[in-house]
Amino acid sequence: VTDRRPIVAGNWKLHLDHVEAVHHVTELGMRLRTMDVAGVDAVVVPPFIDLRSVSSVIEAEKLDLALGAQHVSEFDQGAYTGEVSAAMLARLGVTIVLVGHSERRTHFHMDDATVARTAAAALRGGLIPMVCVGESEVERADGSTEEVLARQLGAVLGELDGVDPDRLCVAYEPIWAIGTGTAATPEDAGSACAHLRKLAEQHLGEGASRLRILYGGSVGADNAAELVLPPDVDGLLVGSASLTAAGFAGVLGAVADCYRSTRRSPRR
Ligand code: PGA
Repeated sequence: VTDRRPIVAGNWKLHLDHVEAVHHVTELGMRLRTMDVAGVDAVVVPPFIDLRSVSSVIEAEKLDLALGAQHVSEFDQGAYTGEVSAAMLARLGVTIVLVGHSERRTHFHMDDATVARTAAAALRGGLIPMVCVGESEVERADGSTEEVLARQLGAVLGELDGVDPDRLCVAYEPIWAIGTGTAATPEDAGSACAHLRKLAEQHLGEGASRLRILYGGSVGADNAAELVLPPDVDGLLVGSASLTAAGFAGVLGAVADCYRSTRRSPRR
């Protein structure tokens, strides 16, 4: 039994311009009106340039959707051409931001220290960082998954001394499962998330029981329910399935049904 409220976040990555975004969220809103997903925190995570338009739709239609960003600067302000600060995002109505997604780590050279500083900047600016961690296929094959997770999460929690566990999220996203169509098994997702919670205890103590830890990687409406069954998995980070309103609504519905029909009862 958990009192952690589940989160389902849809990471659009580099897809959907601001016009497409408006259509997408409008359709999503229409679908959600016919569903009971009140027990789940639903988050859309569009590209930066869509945020303003999406936020207008959410406000105008009074949608029960939170707004997330895919990345944020580690700097608060200054001569950093091309960057967007946490405070700027917060002012737009963004409440949560992905930090250290594996695609940022791989293609844009974010190392553990940068991820940690970026998470700190998100918190300073009033955003909830959703810190993404996960091992590669090679690391998994040579049995170093737990070590990799310890290094990645340790770097962040070491930097965020005294952080309120309600103001932080972690997403376990094994790199080999992202965009491959091969999700982790619920057992593997569950044990990795349980391991992350144990690691978090070293920094957060009992507060680790409040930390929300999501699974991500090839999630769709068909496997969403089984992936949130393990007790330490508190939601899902969804990539390609979130690019259609039907796909994302399907995942949200599956998670909401799962929480309703099992012993897991969210707290607020
Ligand atoms: P995917 O992406 O669902 O397309 O595998 C997940 C992610 O990268 O967050």
